[in-house]
Amino acid sequence: MFSFEEIKEDLKNNLKQSRYEHTLRVVKKSEEIASHFEVDIYKCKLAALLHDCAKGKEEYYKNKYILEYSNLIEKKEFEEFKNPFLEHCLIGYLVAKNHYKIEDKEVLNAILWHTTGRLAMTEIEKIIYLADKTEDGRDYPSVDKIREKSLIDLNDAIILSINNNIKYLIEKNQIISVNTIKLRNELLGGISGR
Ligand SMILES: [Fe+2]
Ligand SMILES: [Fe+2]
Repeated sequence: MFSFEEIKEDLKNNLKQSRYEHTLRVVKKSEEIASHFEVDIYKCKLAALLHDCAKGKEEYYKNKYILEYSNLIEKKEFEEFKNPFLEHCLIGYLVAKNHYKIEDKEVLNAILWHTTGRLAMTEIEKIIYLADKTEDGRDYPSVDKIREKSLIDLNDAIILSINNNIKYLIEKNQIISVNTIKLRNELLGGISGR
């Protein structure tokens, strides 16, 4: 089992510098958001630290954990992770589990769903999702509104973030995750639970 500091040191040596700095800002933001709610702050910080641990090294880690990767990607619920923008979420989950020996399901799921979100997210998952999108280095028109809301109401903040994200994806003519749409519908009262 690696300590938080050992993982931090390892990531410092393995991630591109800008990604490592982003990671540290997500850790800081996750702690800030978590302190406003009744959640385990350490778990949030650990998930934040590991959320992009495979980014930039997708091919390397995919091959390293090819058996488990192949088994997961065949499943309908993980199909979307074939998308090159989302691959690092599934592979990051595998690296956290197999390399950093993380066993905590909540931490692993927060890593897995940090970009798209999904139905029935836990508070830790929501906090990592929001911390990634609102860390101090992020700068886009609605970021301040989402930042403010994140400290008051996680669900309202996620709706704002998804709305912003969908507009961006449409402008770029990119795929919108079905999981994101389902989450938005759920938070707006359209669907309940999984
Ligand atoms: Fe990411
Ligand atoms: Fe990130």
